[in-house]
Amino acid sequence: MNDKRVTNTQNQAASRSSFSGKIGYVLAVAGSAVGLGNIWRFPYLAAKYGGGIFLLVYLILMLTFGYTLIVSETALGRMTKKSPVGAFHAFGKSVPFQFGGWVNAVIPMLIVPYYSVIGGWVLKYLFEYLRENASLLAADDYFTGFISAGADVEIWFLIFSAVVIFVIIAGVKRGVELISKVMMPLLVILAVIVAIYSMSRPGAMAGVKYFLIPNFENFSWMTVVAAMGQMFYSLSIAMGILYTFGSYMKQEVDIEKSTVQIEVFDTGIALLAGLMVIPAVFAFSGGEPESLQAGPSLMFITLPKVFDSMGLGTAAGIMFFLLVFLAALTSAVSLAESGVSTFEDQLGWSRAKACALMGAVIVLFGSVSALGFSVLDFVQPLGMTPLDFFDFLTNSIMMPVAAFCTCILIVRVAGIGRVIKEVELSSEFRRKKLYCFFLKYLAPVCIAIILASSIAGVLGWIVL
Ligand code: PFF
Repeated sequence: MNDKRVTNTQNQAASRSSFSGKIGYVLAVAGSAVGLGNIWRFPYLAAKYGGGIFLLVYLILMLTFGYTLIVSETALGRMTKKSPVGAFHAFGKSVPFQFGGWVNAVIPMLIVPYYSVIGGWVLKYLFEYLRENASLLAADDYFTGFISAGADVEIWFLIFSAVVIFVIIAGVKRGVELISKVMMPLLVILAVIVAIYSMSRPGAMAGVKYFLIPNFENFSWMTVVAAMGQMFYSLSIAMGILYTFGSYMKQEVDIEKSTVQIEVFDTGIALLAGLMVIPAVFAFSGGEPESLQAGPSLMFITLPKVFDSMGLGTAAGIMFFLLVFLAALTSAVSLAESGVSTFEDQLGWSRAKACALMGAVIVLFGSVSALGFSVLDFVQPLGMTPLDFFDFLTNSIMMPVAAFCTCILIVRVAGIGRVIKEVELSSEFRRKKLYCFFLKYLAPVCIAIILASSIAGVLGWIVL
């Protein structure tokens, strides 16, 4: 371990800006963590991979493996005062360190293009609600028609991406974050109302039971793999983001407590989204296996039916998609910003050049994902649509590798003691023993499971 290098880094970073106060840190991380992952991705995975059993596995993983990784990444970020590439460099400059830092840093760059495609879908729905087309959106095959039309999807994706890049170039990120923080409580209130309405529809109780009560018959290997991938995604773990947030964190902020607060907040929103969508699938489509398997389209097919039947189609649709747009925008901006600052810090590029490259990556990869349901439908990497492929590549392959690098860095190089000391700078480390156990034994097992299953899936041994 290179203590001197870490100390140097700390000195250099003495002037690094930090979050004001403890709550400022939690709100900033929660603002970036809550996004499409909670509202769009969580309900469709829960519907597809077993309902209550998926939820149970998700909660167990989040409280053990997820907790360990959040504490680890945040502590490493705060200790080195660097984002991932710099944090790994602080301990060594050889190839494994380069690899560990870069794999963490590249993930957000690969997520933001397809994230912006979904952001574009959200914008399109918002636009159609503003044109009072609520019943059109609720029609059975509206969504399929929309994504297979191609040009419209590409245009809305480009509009969403342009807003993201504009926010970064114009430096109005703080303003957007502020707006979204004010809107977040509104999103929660609206989600509660819609969830109650959804659950009170005839036939919806079967959906509530499906989502909340674990049924071991619905368990499959993919339940664990999907839940683990979702946990990375939703909590922004294993993508370098928490290193960066940690690097801005003040020493007096309690790492353990803020981790718990972020987990509770993030999971609360995901649960609400699940309660809005899954009971409605049962109420409006009888909960047949086919509708539960809808995948990425689930929210876009189900919620317009709910809004339409509420008799408030237009108003509810506008409010909901506007709030989801803001949540998606703040998340996409954090993802893109992380890419831009990696280019600036590591390659010494100007901000303009870094933004231009990030923009080009978004347009290139995003267009392939946007058009993968229409003109590019012959592009089927590993038999998946390009959007599913990027999601799979980042969540099921790269994030476990990134998480593995973090664990190795701590256990083999930095030493667990150093992370413990970092956590103890602000408070007593209440779950120290559990943390050590999870890091040394549980994390490698979880990582091996997700990687082995992904490889087996690619080889066709299991169905992904
Ligand atoms: N956690 C976000 C979500 O659930 O939508 C995705 C994300 C946003 C990851 C921002 C990373 C990030 F910086």
